[in-house]
Amino acid sequence: MNFAVFASGNGGNLQAIISALRVQKIRAALQLVVSDRADAYALVRARKAKVPTLCLNPKNFETREAFDRAVLAHLKERRIDFIVLAGYMRLFSHHFIRSYPNKILNIHPALLPAFKGTHSVRDAFQYGVKVTGVTVHFIVEEMDAGAVILQEAVAVGPKDTESSLARKIHRVEHRVYPKAIDLFARGKLKLTGHTVKII
Ligand code: GRF
Repeated sequence: MNFAVFASGNGGNLQAIISALRVQKIRAALQLVVSDRADAYALVRARKAKVPTLCLNPKNFETREAFDRAVLAHLKERRIDFIVLAGYMRLFSHHFIRSYPNKILNIHPALLPAFKGTHSVRDAFQYGVKVTGVTVHFIVEEMDAGAVILQEAVAVGPKDTESSLARKIHRVEHRVYPKAIDLFARGKLKLTGHTVKII
């Protein structure tokens, strides 16, 4: 199976995926790293690992769908079977999501359906929860609403700050995401309704 990672920022998860690929913990081929931001550090990480990159500027496209169609053409050319989102901050058009049904994975730094959105670590910390965590899920058209693939809880200790909690969450992400990707690539995930079973 060929896959692409989409990232807009730091690329910590991308780095964890690259490391897992090196030791065959993910049995699939990373063929492309896609970004919507030329300054994404994820692109530097991809180049260092000799993974091909694609960076398109959304400002050069009239509509969201036009941008997505351009990306899709590249995915087709590289025979990409599935997509892994790792801090990709751009919403997709319906057309894009329908082109990869149940084949787009995302990682979210909270236990969905709690703390949806883009500031989940901060929101959970400020709410004062004692347990938060990490969710890997499929992408559907509604944001942060797809079926859950894997989840892992992270305890919030009395001495935690928002940044120490973020570090804990990232460490868990870097372990859980490669595992979920490998399960998907090996056909071990069975989706029935909104429930994913590991078979
Ligand atoms: C991660 O916390 C992930 O859960 C969220 O965006 C962040 C990306 O971090 N979707 P990085 O770019 O992988 O370091």
